[in-house]
Amino acid sequence: LDNGLARTPPMGWMSWERFRCNIDCRNDPKNCISEALYKDMAERLVEDGWLKLGYEYLIIDDCWSFTSRDSRGRLMPDPVRFPNGIPKLAHYVHQLGLKLGIYADMGTHTCAGYPGTTLEQIQTDAQTFAEWQVDMLKFDGCNSNAEEQQQGYPLMSKALNATGRPIVYACSWPVYRGGLPPSVNYTLLGEICNLWRNYYDIEDSWDSVLNIVDWFFQSQDYLQPASGPGRWNDPDMLIIGNFGLSLEQSKAQMALWAIMAAPLIMSNDLRTLSSEARNILQNKAVIAINQDPLGIQGRRILKDEGHIEVFWRPLSKSASALVFLSRRTDMPYRYHSTLSLLNYTTGSYTAYDVFKDEIVFLPSEKTHFTITINPSGVVMWYIYPDESWENIEEF
Ligand code: DGJ
Repeated sequence: LDNGLARTPPMGWMSWERFRCNIDCRNDPKNCISEALYKDMAERLVEDGWLKLGYEYLIIDDCWSFTSRDSRGRLMPDPVRFPNGIPKLAHYVHQLGLKLGIYADMGTHTCAGYPGTTLEQIQTDAQTFAEWQVDMLKFDGCNSNAEEQQQGYPLMSKALNATGRPIVYACSWPVYRGGLPPSVNYTLLGEICNLWRNYYDIEDSWDSVLNIVDWFFQSQDYLQPASGPGRWNDPDMLIIGNFGLSLEQSKAQMALWAIMAAPLIMSNDLRTLSSEARNILQNKAVIAINQDPLGIQGRRILKDEGHIEVFWRPLSKSASALVFLSRRTDMPYRYHSTLSLLNYTTGSYTAYDVFKDEIVFLPSEKTHFTITINPSGVVMWYIYPDESWENIEEF
């Protein structure tokens, strides 16, 4: 969507995967969906250095609203859990330098059963969100049919635009239509949405990450060309810092999301994050690869019999990124290759191993190299041709 927003994949934090629909503030006040939770996370985003790395959107997910609309037919937050209302929360978030996202659902009810946004209510809700000073809308698609979605998603895009407020528009439409053409029209999506969820919800497990990765790269011929500045595929939240991923798997999620030019939206508890998880999520080189201004999504270029997969993404200034993923479950695997085997053209290159913080010199595209990839782990390289090294920033 050419609204000047999300020229690189949006970055931030969202409540859903980690905090779900926990509304039990009486017994679990620190972890329930409430303004206190969002304020806590807003403070962490700023104080722990996330914002200055680009993590700027704080996104409210399902279960924020009251069980019914107000007397004027407008959505309203749960008065007990959001006693000060959304405009106050937006003000708080803005004064910290962050942006606020909110959740609504194209349909009669949200997935968790709260009031939805039917076709007739789209105008009102877009207006309300703009008046509340919201900066992003996640528009889910539970409880509507294909026809209503076909009308509703473009209508909301128009309604948001008509408010005059810049609002990033995140659509869940493709998920509800199977994620692939012909049921999904990626050309249209690119015209009306800034990002879109293509596939099922992420869960707190490596299985879930692999399942998403497999689907995205199997479907890359459809998905990869659909993406670019202002219009991104969204493989869902980063779950790094939760319970399901090992350290190696956490690096793998981060690396693959960077290759996919995916939004970097964390869903974790920033108040209790380990320093290992923080280091991965705050890795400047990986973030720079994800946020590359060309905005070209990467592809899987090789599936090896040894259960090694290689992913490649072209970057600005003639640079590129490579990810070597091991799906093995035995031991660190020594993988041999050359850049020419990975389709690189003639020249000498330097590779920066982004997780090891080490440089590897490759005097020719035919230079043999050996890397060690841990089980369910990755090696990620930022590569540049030596003739263009002057233009390359350091991380
Ligand atoms: C389904 C979405 O895909 C999730 O990300 C989350 O928003 C839930 N609905 C909320 O009910």
